[in-house]
Amino acid sequence: MSIFRIPLAAAALFALTGIAAAEALTFDLARTQSCGCCLAYAKRLEDSGHVVQVSDLPMASLMQMKNELGVPAELAGCHTSKVGNYVIEGHVPAADVERLVSEAPDAVGLAVAGMPVGSPGMEYGDRRDAYDVTLIHRDGSTSVYNSYPAKD
Ligand code: CU
Ligand code: CU
Repeated sequence: MSIFRIPLAAAALFALTGIAAAEALTFDLARTQSCGCCLAYAKRLEDSGHVVQVSDLPMASLMQMKNELGVPAELAGCHTSKVGNYVIEGHVPAADVERLVSEAPDAVGLAVAGMPVGSPGMEYGDRRDAYDVTLIHRDGSTSVYNSYPAKD
C-alpha cells in the first residue's frame, strides 16, 4: 500500500504547484459603456486569476480599434481585449487564451463570434449553445482553435 502513497502524493503536489504557477495574464479590455456582459466577462477572467483593465470607448472608436487590430467584421463582438500582442475578441474562455499564450503562434489572436449562451460572461443557468473559438491568422484567414459542444 505505502508504495502507492508516495507517487500519489507527489502527483497531487505537482498538480497543485502547476496551478499555482499558471501565469496571470493582463487583459486590456475595451468596451462601450452600456455593455453589461463585458463586465461579466471581465469578472470570469478575474475568477480565473487574470488581471483585467477595462476602458470605455465610444462605439465608433471601438469599431475602428477592431478594424485596426485586424478583427474580421464577421467575428466582431461586443468587446475587444489585448493580451500582449494578441487580440482577444468577444467572450473567449480564459483557458483558450492561456493556451494561445503558451503556444505563442504567429497570429492575430482569438475570437468568439456573436455572444453564445454559456460562454464566459454569457451564463444562463447551465445551458450552453455550441460555439467555436476562432484563430485569426495574420493574413486574415481563420481556423477553428477550439469547439465547445452544446449543453442543456
Ligand atoms: Cu457580450
Ligand atoms: Cu462585451
